[in-house]
This record gives sequence, structure tokens and C-alpha cells, in this order.
Amino acid sequence: MTEPRPIERLVIFGATGDLAARMLLPSLYHLDADGLLLGPLRIIGSARTQMTREAYVERVRKDLEVRADDFDEAVWTRFAQRLDYCDSDVSRPDGLAGVAAAVGGAAAVYFLALSPSLYGAVCRGLDAAGLACDDCRIVLEKPLGKDLETSRAINAEVSRVFAESRVFRIDHYLGKETVQNLLALRFANTLFEPLWNNLAVDHVQITVAETEGVGDRWGYYDEYGALRDMVQNHMLQLLSLVAMEPPADSGADSVRDEKVKVLKSLRPFTSAEAHQMSVRGQYRSGVVGGKAAPGYLEEKGSPSDTETFVALRADIDNWRWAGVPFYLRTGKCLPERRTQIVIQFKPLPHSIFGARDDLMANRLVIDLQPDEDISLLLNNRGPGLTGTHLQALPLSLSLAGNGRRRIAYERLFLDAFAGNPALFVRRDEVELAWAWIDGVAKAWNELGMAPRSYAAGSWGPPGAFALLERTGREWLDE
Ligand code: BG6
Repeated sequence: MTEPRPIERLVIFGATGDLAARMLLPSLYHLDADGLLLGPLRIIGSARTQMTREAYVERVRKDLEVRADDFDEAVWTRFAQRLDYCDSDVSRPDGLAGVAAAVGGAAAVYFLALSPSLYGAVCRGLDAAGLACDDCRIVLEKPLGKDLETSRAINAEVSRVFAESRVFRIDHYLGKETVQNLLALRFANTLFEPLWNNLAVDHVQITVAETEGVGDRWGYYDEYGALRDMVQNHMLQLLSLVAMEPPADSGADSVRDEKVKVLKSLRPFTSAEAHQMSVRGQYRSGVVGGKAAPGYLEEKGSPSDTETFVALRADIDNWRWAGVPFYLRTGKCLPERRTQIVIQFKPLPHSIFGARDDLMANRLVIDLQPDEDISLLLNNRGPGLTGTHLQALPLSLSLAGNGRRRIAYERLFLDAFAGNPALFVRRDEVELAWAWIDGVAKAWNELGMAPRSYAAGSWGPPGAFALLERTGREWLDE
């Protein structure tokens, strides 16, 4: 087999959109600043809007001046030379002619920062324009569908043109340093593996809390809600990485095979238990970080049954995790921005210090953002000549200060250029995740479970607390 040619073109479809401005171009700019982009790489922005190259370059510059805190004239001059713009329209037979001319037969990565309803048409257009060469790859942004059926349909359309090995499905959480650190924590240390199971672990909590509301994204968000926007992808990825068996090696398929086994072991949700196992919420006006925040319905300007908060209990029916609940919680307009995984160990089987309040069960806390930290709470005897005063102290591995925090897309771009799919999501992973999420949505639907209101700036509706209290547990919010 001949080696694939190096990637010399990146085409961003949806180049005038929000994702390109907020994430994609700043990531590419940073990579260029660090000398990590190949010399010949050209970045071709494409969208329906007609625009000259000069106007596009100026627009990118303005965005970067605001978003790249390290904007530098010399780097910009180099970066700007890579930029090009071609309008495109996949509804016309020759709608990709400009892109084809700019790619000029080079090996290319096509990044689809577009509505997924267009993925099939873009793939067909690329094929018809002779742009789907064997060395070319396609990168797909989430959401990949709205449920299993639509996800399968998109995957099927894409696979008619691009073989699975050339399809790179993004879940940007996998590009975050701290998420990759989970693998190092689990599989580069012998310490945790003997305890990583239902004999030692009481339960697991995964929280992805955001302070921002939906704002002007409601057009997209209202169709998806927190379940499809966050749980189907980012949160199930975090759950899989925590719960998976040790893979044989760190190869893309070895890791993804293990994640797939976890997704297959998720206990299907049923309407009989949905009230006990899940909570939907929607923010009303309130105060976040000292500032008044409007409610979701005010932002949208019309009634809606979309949830902006979800808390639910997932059970993994396998030998390792039987009986260990995984509590997932995510929402907009919560009191703080926090992405955190807590592994709560079981209480002592017997206390030689007698029954007391200051004896805590051990806990491993993995903070992914905004702080990057892994800490293990251990009980320690406080100083003093008399008595025994116990205190839980963290053994902490602060991961901050390793230089500038990178945007997750930086790593994902480099991997897509290099053809390394390890941090991208395989088709069976996406579809299994949708199958489980469909079960949750169906149960909510059957029960007519409307979202409960919560004040912006609070930790969700009361039911979110009851979800854990029911089994004598609580969210670990300190
Ligand atoms: C995106 C969701 O995938 O992730 C957004 O569509 C959400 O609604 C975002 O705000 C959160 O990403 P991060 O990296 O800020 O945690």
C-alpha cells in the first residue's frame, strides 16, 4: 500500500459561521504560531456567501484580534498567506467548481462546520467534483443526527463517498488535555485499577455545568436540548473513558472497541423508572455571577418544552460496574462553570475511631475545567496532643501551569492532518450512544415529562437533588 500524501489543503465548509470564528481559525492560528502547520498547507474558507479573498482575510483578522490573546503581526502575516476563500453551493451541479480549483488535486481535509442535514449533499458534491480522492479525509462536527435513525442516515450517506477510515467525527471533549489525561491516570498507574470497580467504588458523578445561557443559539438548541446537545456526546464519552476496560494498547481501535463495550452495557432507560432516574429542567430568569440573566423562554420569545438541564442516573450492566450508579448532570445558567468527574469510594467497612462525622469516604476528584486538577481526598489526623481529630485532605496533582491552555480543536486538527483517528468517534460509538439517548427521550415522551423550571444561577430543579437523596447520596458540590 502506498503511503497517503501529506495534507496540503484544509477546506472549511461553513467558514462564515460561529464555530469557524470562535474555535477553528483561532486553533489554526495558534498551531501556525507554534510552527506546527506544514509549510504548504492552505486553508480554504468556503460558504454560500460571495466574498473576495481580501474581504475574507480581513474578516478572519478582525476575529483573531478579538479572540487570540497572543495576536502577533509576524504570525498573522504568515497565517494570512495560507488563507483563501471560495463560495460554494452544493445544490448546484457546478457549485464546488471554485473549491476544486483551489484544492488543485492536492490531498485535502474537508471540515464540515455545517448543519448535518447538508453532510450528504456535500459528500456527493465532493465526489462529483473529483475531490474525494483516496488521500482525502472528511471531518464531521456534531450533532450527527437528532436520533439513531437520522444519525444512521447521515452516516450511510457519508459512507457512500468516504470509507470509515477517512471519516473523522468530532467530539471536541476528546481533544481536551484533561480528558486525555484520564487515560494516563487510569492506565499509566497501577494504583487505581484494583479499586476501579464495584467492590471499592460507591458511585460516580459527572458534572458539566455552564454559566452561560443559550443566548442567540436557541435556533439550533431548541431542537436538541441538553440531552442531545451534551449527554449524547460529551458526557457519554466521559462516562465511557471512566468505565472502560484497559485496552490492549493505545491504538485507535483498541480504545474505541472498549468504549463501545461500555455503551453496549448501558442499561436501557424505561418509562417505568424515568421519573426516578432522570430530571429535566429549563431555566427561568435569575442571577448568574452577580448579573441578572433572562429565562430561556424570554431569550427564545415563545413557549418551548426543550430542556436546558438534565440530571440522570445511568447503570452499566457488566461485572465491573454492576450496582454502581453513574450520575450525570449538565445544564446552562448554573452557578459556576465546572466540568468534573468524581469517583466516590465506599465508606470504611469499620471505623476503629468510633462513629463520627469527620470521617469521610475517600474520593477521587478529576477537574477538567476551568481548573485542571486531579485530587484524592484522604483522611488524616489533625495535629494535637489529645484526642483524634480527623480531616480530609486532598493529595493534589495540579495540571495547570503547563503553558497556554490549548483549544481542543488544535489537537484534533493535527490528528486529522496526520490521519490518526484515536480521538475521533467511530460510527458504532455514535450510533450506540444515540440508541441509549433515544430510550431516554422516548421514556420522557411517553410520560409527558415536561422540564421543571429552575432559577438561572441555581443547581437545577429540586428533583436533581432528590435523584441522589433517594439512595442516601448527594451531589459533591464543594
Ligand atoms: C458544545 C455544545 O458541543 O459544547 C454547547 O453544543 C456547549 O452547547 C459546549 O456550550 C461546551 O463546550 P466546552 O468546551 O465549553 O465545555
